[in-house]
Amino acid sequence: MTTDQLVDAALAARLNAVAPYSNFKVGAALLTEDGKVYTGCNVENATYGLSVCAERVALWKALSEGERRFRRLAVSSQSARPATPCGACRQLLWEFAGDIEIILVNPQGRRETHQLKALFPEAFDASFLG
Ligand code: THU
Repeated sequence: MTTDQLVDAALAARLNAVAPYSNFKVGAALLTEDGKVYTGCNVENATYGLSVCAERVALWKALSEGERRFRRLAVSSQSARPATPCGACRQLLWEFAGDIEIILVNPQGRRETHQLKALFPEAFDASFLG
């Protein structure tokens, strides 16, 4: 699975977004260490507060299928600068995927790459719980 293929999967997943309230469609594609891809899109609903980000949908799909080791995540959105994951998703990605590579893209072909640790420094995690 090349980075371009993972990016294409995130762009395709974005087309399934259920985003009638924000009209901001997001797709995600999470690559496991053994080469499988789990995709997600944001799913909004009338309460607003129960909406779920694309990243979390992809992460929950992967974890619920037994996956535990991840390599990188591609996130697609429509903004001129491709959107970074929200704080809640950073927290969950840090806990369940660790310091993975995060590739941000938009349909126009803009691309940024970050390590999760750079996007989410000094995180609280289970190491504090002893
Ligand atoms: N959203 C995501 O799915 N991922 C992000 O990285 C940023 C925001 C969603 C949540 C909501 O459905 C819409 O985008 C606008 O915030």
